[in-house]
Amino acid sequence: MSQKLLVTGSSGLIGSEVCRYFSRELGYEIHGVDNNQRAVFFGPQGDTRWNQQQLSSELSDFVHHELDIRDRQGVLTLIDLVRPDAIVHAAAQPSHDRAAAIPFDDFDTNAVGTLNLLEAARRVCPETPFLHMSTNKVYGDRPNTITLRELETRWDYADPIYENGITEDFPIDQSKHSLFGASKVAADVMVQEYGRYFGMPTCCLRGGCLT
Ligand SMILES: NC(=O)c1ccc[n+]([C@@H]2O[C@H](COP(=O)([O-])OP(=O)(O)OC[C@H]3O[C@@H](n4cnc5c(N)ncnc54)[C@H](O)[C@@H]3O)[C@@H](O)[C@H]2O)c1
Repeated sequence: MSQKLLVTGSSGLIGSEVCRYFSRELGYEIHGVDNNQRAVFFGPQGDTRWNQQQLSSELSDFVHHELDIRDRQGVLTLIDLVRPDAIVHAAAQPSHDRAAAIPFDDFDTNAVGTLNLLEAARRVCPETPFLHMSTNKVYGDRPNTITLRELETRWDYADPIYENGITEDFPIDQSKHSLFGASKVAADVMVQEYGRYFGMPTCCLRGGCLT
């Protein structure tokens, strides 16, 4: 029997590629969760139904679940129904500017939606790896304080300790994040906490400008 992957934000940029990879390369049965909230956040140009339809026609083992991750009971019921072997959480309100205009929707989606998923996973399948798409915006504007040096074609960090980028122990406190960055920090810390406090296999990936 194939392994089951639950992907939130499955119709979005990252979530849909995760669905394709795990289906085609690893043979997983994919359970996508998306309610096309992107069209609510950004209007018709943000509509992601086309991607959902492509996944349904491209992937043999793809099941779409029309669910809002803010629906706490709905999330619990779905995770109990699917009992996934792994969870990739990529549903989010992804914009700094929109967050300032819709702070409750932003926080309810990014922070509380993540908590709904974590708690459902803890109750139903605490051994299941839970991977959260976080963001480098959790560092706020603090990376701007790192000294730069000018090279012939670009600017680079002056201190060689940043040669491979900013490490995860870089402070996230005492900086300006935007409301989006703050709701993502709340989710990121909660995902870490379910790992440390409850011993669940959770992980945050702090990507930036993924295309
Ligand atoms: N794309 C990047 O450059 C980038 C960089 C760093 C981090 N990230 C993070 O990766 C994640 C995914 O980003 P993306 O670029 O794929 O975003 P996206 O907007 O393309 O996809 C997000 C998907 O989540 C869905 N969604 C939103 N709210 C929902 C809700 N309440 N219930 C169910 N579904 C909902 C949307 O409809 C959309 O399809 C986000 O957490 C984002 O912060 C993205």
